[in-house]
Amino acid sequence: MDKKLGVLRQKRQKAFEGGGAVRIESQHKKGKLTARERLHFLMDDGSFQEIGMLVSHRSTDFGMEKEKYPGDGVVTGYGTVNGRLVYVFSQDFTVFGGSLSETHAEKIVKIMDLAIKNGAPVVGLNDSGGARIQEGVVSLGGYADIFYKNTMASGVVPQISAIMGPCAGGAVYSPAITDFILMVEHTSYMFVTGPNVVKTVTHEIVTSEELGGATTHATKSGVTHFACTNEIEAIQNIKKLLSYMPQNCEDRAPALPYDIGNELRPELDTLLPEIASTPYDIREIIDHVIDTGSFLEIHKDFAENIVVGFARIAGRSIGIVANQPAFLAGVLDINSSTKAARFVRFCDSFNIPLLVFEDVPGFLPGTDQEWNAIITNGAKLLYAFCEATVPRVTVITRKAYGGAYDVMNSKHIGADMNYAWPSAEIAVMGAKGAAEIIFKREISTAEDKEAKWKEKEQLYSDTFANPYRAAERGFIDEVIEPAETRLKLIHAFKMLENKVVNNPRKKHGNIPL
Ligand code: COA
Repeated sequence: MDKKLGVLRQKRQKAFEGGGAVRIESQHKKGKLTARERLHFLMDDGSFQEIGMLVSHRSTDFGMEKEKYPGDGVVTGYGTVNGRLVYVFSQDFTVFGGSLSETHAEKIVKIMDLAIKNGAPVVGLNDSGGARIQEGVVSLGGYADIFYKNTMASGVVPQISAIMGPCAGGAVYSPAITDFILMVEHTSYMFVTGPNVVKTVTHEIVTSEELGGATTHATKSGVTHFACTNEIEAIQNIKKLLSYMPQNCEDRAPALPYDIGNELRPELDTLLPEIASTPYDIREIIDHVIDTGSFLEIHKDFAENIVVGFARIAGRSIGIVANQPAFLAGVLDINSSTKAARFVRFCDSFNIPLLVFEDVPGFLPGTDQEWNAIITNGAKLLYAFCEATVPRVTVITRKAYGGAYDVMNSKHIGADMNYAWPSAEIAVMGAKGAAEIIFKREISTAEDKEAKWKEKEQLYSDTFANPYRAAERGFIDEVIEPAETRLKLIHAFKMLENKVVNNPRKKHGNIPL
């Protein structure tokens, strides 16, 4: 037995060494951790159980049969994160550059199958030179197997992808299908075609970082939800994200124990500027309403005119969607609509109740928006809210104008409880523009046009720039004092805890894409 144990231990030791000391040193010199070091920081101490440690590739071309590493460039398995089961794969750049072989792909698919069957999230730590070049189409097949599995797992278990090195070509599409992407600044990049191909085809000269680095994708494309300063920060963000999510689509969103105390927040009465056109940061209001320090903002630097993220209210996990008056006056445009729509759909897939803060002057006008399909893209957010069956609550703090009023989780599209502050203005448009249109003739024939316009603006404003017309109709359930907001929300979400809505049976809807 001793001899046999020795063989096993030797094989295990070889797997732990990955591509060897020199390549590990080179990985560290780049400011990157190894696949196993990352797992050490992610998983609870001693909880990680490896699957497929001795798997090796089957390739025989180009002398590959002589170069084998147990594990074949990816460490896969399961364990716990803050006590909850998680399946994980971690690509090992020190073995064939973390490139994806047939067997490497099979290992990833295996843990995804287990995750779907057992209902627990999948976390992928990506660091790979792409398809294993020596294997050709077999490797491409492996990618497709993963994409298919990602799609089957979508909406069944949460999927999170961290990009901690290269992720190019076909490799990008697995993370793209998953629910959240995190990238690390300066050591990770994602693109479909790299700088060399870009230069040949479009004659643009661009670095990898400019083309597909973390900052680029966090600000310009919105491909990544987080740009992290280092790998440890990325891992901490993965843990935080998981803490708000249920294990699967049948599970409830997590809730921490909470005893209701004095939930009035008088400071909310003074946070809104006196003048309705003055910007303010909606995050300040969010912070005063939710459990202290519980907000995890997502997509922070992309489409800043809408704020989305997870939080807790009386211990319960919720998803927040909020117009941001501090950026572009909180207007809805293409990027903010798609950003919020994707978030709403995630929350709805995983039973996370939605809280909407509304202060929206309408949709952004202009050729750029119209020609790039604000119609189709705005419809995504509308559709996402309409089909969402989770508890849905809206608080209108100030403007709720035009079609944007309908879109932002209005009562009419299925919201459960709609509150408005006394400062709310629920109307077709702002008073100035409205007066110009409906009193056009009177204004144009008046002796003092400016004075007439002001008078009519005031008339429209007195009639509609308030929450009471909507409240009279029942479109608003209650006009509340800002200080009462948290208390009202705690009661509303508790009341909605067992909400059941069954949308008409269908194969699947056809969201405008
Ligand atoms: N297939 C097989 N081996 C690969 C690989 C791939 N796709 N990508 C990298 N490797 C190997 C390299 O041969 C090298 O092996 P070695 O340690 O035995 O020398 C090792 O991984 C590290 O690669 P290296 O090029 O030295 O690292 P780098 O940090 O300088 O560059 C990349 C990283 C990813 C930019 C570069 O390796 C690359 O361009 N890879 C090919 C990308 C690609 O075209 N993939 C296929 C299309 S999806």
